[in-house]
Amino acid sequence: MASSSAAAASIVSLLLLSSSLLILSEAETSAPIVNGLSWTFYKKSCPKVESIIRKQLKKVFKKDIGQAAGLLRLHFHDCFVQGCDGSVLLDGSTSGPGEQEAIPNLTLRKEAFDIIDDLRLRVHKECGRVVSCSDIVALAARDSVFLSGGPDYEVPLGRRDGLTFATEQATLDNLVPPTANTTFILNRLATKNLDKTDAVALSGGHTIGISHCTSFTERLYPTVDPTMDKTFAKNLKESCPTIDSNNTVFQDIRSPNAFDNKYYVDLMNRQGLFTSDQDLYTDKRTRDIVTSFAVDEKLFFEQFALSMIKMGQLSVLTGNQGEIRANCSVRNTDNKKFLASVVDEEVSEEGWSAELRK
Ligand code: HEM
Repeated sequence: MASSSAAAASIVSLLLLSSSLLILSEAETSAPIVNGLSWTFYKKSCPKVESIIRKQLKKVFKKDIGQAAGLLRLHFHDCFVQGCDGSVLLDGSTSGPGEQEAIPNLTLRKEAFDIIDDLRLRVHKECGRVVSCSDIVALAARDSVFLSGGPDYEVPLGRRDGLTFATEQATLDNLVPPTANTTFILNRLATKNLDKTDAVALSGGHTIGISHCTSFTERLYPTVDPTMDKTFAKNLKESCPTIDSNNTVFQDIRSPNAFDNKYYVDLMNRQGLFTSDQDLYTDKRTRDIVTSFAVDEKLFFEQFALSMIKMGQLSVLTGNQGEIRANCSVRNTDNKKFLASVVDEEVSEEGWSAELRK
């Protein structure tokens, strides 16, 4: 009896394993990859990059799983503004407010920036300055999803770091405010070639993490948004007693730290935190997609991985564009000379990678 239940358990774990492998290979084969990026970019120059990052993040999240949410959001804010070029990591200028000072970026976690630079230090210690900060952000976001219980997926690599950051206005013009309705979200995402399925899947990032009260209290005061569940509104008012309260709340009340499909179950129960969340269920164009993810977590995981791979390739710099920063928060001073030597090496590596994937 005991051995048959052990056998059953191992069959279940085998099935689970094969289903997660399936997700990974599907994402890999059906996600298009932009010129200049590669699935095996660091195979020769830094073969341990992914294991160094995952091992370190396991330690970080063991102490505080909340940091996973901060890292996932950092990648989103990097990619939507000026492309995934690590520009959000660059410290501000003296010539006026820049990307980091724009309102949506003020609530990025400070620790997320520190974790990225610590990972950069570990990776560069092992391999030299060959891995970009923007690739480290993309890998850290992937590991944040996976280590919180979400899908694992391959990340196309080879991004270069940008030389400039965006203005405050460009940052606002590219991110989406939490007050946005579905029309606004779909229009903005369309400018980045992301469709309504991507919009619903990527919003599922709100299955982990926290929000400051001020990001949604306009839905509570002076009157409660009629699309919000009454008990949910009452509890939020307790956590956020005034419109400008400094408090924070979890984004997904059912499983705040687990990367799962409960965010969509929240939406179906009118317990979405932001208008931008809840309206995805109110709007006829996206309602069925929300429902499909709420009832089928595997479908959500597969789509989330695909949409992340798509988002992670927005306007990337590759080859001899940009630089590989020696410090993620400041631009290099010697980039021309340095990049020329790295680029030579990678031209041959590209051909080698293609061989490996045959
Ligand atoms: C549709 C557009 C989106 C809007 C309007 C939006 C808005 C927001 C806002 C207002 C917060 C709370 C900030 C605060 O008050 O502290 C937040 C948090 C967060 N967002 Fe989004 N977001 C969007 C898309 C995304 C995407 C695409 C992802 C990732 C795939 C993402 C991942 C997160 C995460 C993980 C957090 C929690 C961060 C933490 O705990 O530090 N969001 N988002």
